[in-house]
Amino acid sequence: RVAAVIEDVERSLATPTALLRSIADAMVTEMERGLRGDIHAQLKMLISYVDNLPTGDEHGLFYALDLGGTNFRVLRVQLGGREKRVVKQQYEEVSIPPHLMVGTSMELFDFIAAALAKFVDTEGEDFHLPEGRQRELGFTFSFPVNQTSISSGTLIKWTKGFSINGAVGEDVVSELSRAMERQGLDMKVTALVNDTVGTLAGGRYNDNDVVAAVILGTGTNAAYVEHANAIPKWTGLLPKSGNMVINTEWGSFKSDKLPLSEYDRVMDFESLNPGEQIYEKMISGMYLGEIVRRILLKLAHYASLFGDIVPPKLEQPFVLRTPDMSAMHHDSSHDLKILGSKLKDIVGIADTSLEVRYITRHICDLVAERGARLAAAGIYSILKKIGRDKIPTGESKMPRTVVALDGGLYEHYKKFSSCVEATLTDLLGDEASSSVVAKLANDGSGIGAALLAASHSQYAEVD
Ligand code: BG6
Ligand code: GLC
Repeated sequence: RVAAVIEDVERSLATPTALLRSIADAMVTEMERGLRGDIHAQLKMLISYVDNLPTGDEHGLFYALDLGGTNFRVLRVQLGGREKRVVKQQYEEVSIPPHLMVGTSMELFDFIAAALAKFVDTEGEDFHLPEGRQRELGFTFSFPVNQTSISSGTLIKWTKGFSINGAVGEDVVSELSRAMERQGLDMKVTALVNDTVGTLAGGRYNDNDVVAAVILGTGTNAAYVEHANAIPKWTGLLPKSGNMVINTEWGSFKSDKLPLSEYDRVMDFESLNPGEQIYEKMISGMYLGEIVRRILLKLAHYASLFGDIVPPKLEQPFVLRTPDMSAMHHDSSHDLKILGSKLKDIVGIADTSLEVRYITRHICDLVAERGARLAAAGIYSILKKIGRDKIPTGESKMPRTVVALDGGLYEHYKKFSSCVEATLTDLLGDEASSSVVAKLANDGSGIGAALLAASHSQYAEVD
């Protein structure tokens, strides 16, 4: 019975290259629908109001606040212009108490503003704000937002583990600004950005060939530089640069082509946002461990994988976190000792047989591989959309093309990230893939938000 369940899992999670190609094509179609403003488009293709990426000339003291990943972060940076670049930066990381993720909007924003105020109080002499000026902030808010300008926008919906009543439809910058006022903090939000957009800006600051940014973390998403005249729904003036950064919100992609298993369906049904973020639920760090847990549970029920009883702990949703799954997956010792001790913690069984350990590792492998391959198909679809999936006609060579990547999953889960890269190479073929670079842009979104706050500063004209 064990073998039968495993075979079924292998079949339902399979992602042959031909399937990935058709998924990428379907994503390109959805991107085009989103850019047209089709209300049924699955990819919202949100306009970021970022039409210029950092140049290196940015200077002055700026703050950034980063909300929506595993941790909430505050950062300050002294930018020194083209010569000196980042003169000094400091940051602090605070984890968000889980009850605030499902509480009220005011509680969440007050918590953030209080942490920020405390951080501002520690500003030392290495940082310099010209007299009479207000401090300015770039706000990375990693959820789908309908931007109304570079520094305002309303929340479309919560994703990942957040679910706060009364926040949807509200302007997140006004909410943060009011909370800052309550803290007596005099600071102006001059840029509101998604984490993908922040990562793209930070990535470009360090490498001029960055054209897209992808987050593979608690959630997943991508942003890229689009030609403004390829965005039919954009009704504003054509930006001077001719470009506009688009936040795809690809996590909400769904298609019959996606290899959705019974485990995915039930997990989705029982989630905070059923029917939504299907692509994200197959790929990102919040869900991978949970999918593995569900498969192990099925093996325990139907094939007595852990003996006569089903370990009660294994029944607990989200007990198997993705970092634990990663540790089990990377165990290459002959007796899979690390995996054994993780199973002991998670499942509560001390002496699992070697066979059970091998099976568990195989399940981790199947789930991670499917996620990584699907993520690579997404990256490939963006490269297709901007014509960087092959040598442009009339040219002899592909321009160097860099994709900045960030997120705990990509950074820490090595088997996952190497599979993303290998699959992308496979999809692109030898010629194109030699010009495409996937680059870890760790913590780039904080600095990216600060850079965008600088280029949209209220004092930009004066400077
Ligand atoms: C961080 C970025 O490095 O990665 C955040 O600064 C981003 O903006 C985060 O949201 C995503 O990763 P994770 O794993 O924290 O969700
Ligand atoms: C979720 C959010 C998206 C964010 C991504 C990565 O998909 O909706 O805005 O970019 O997670 O953090």
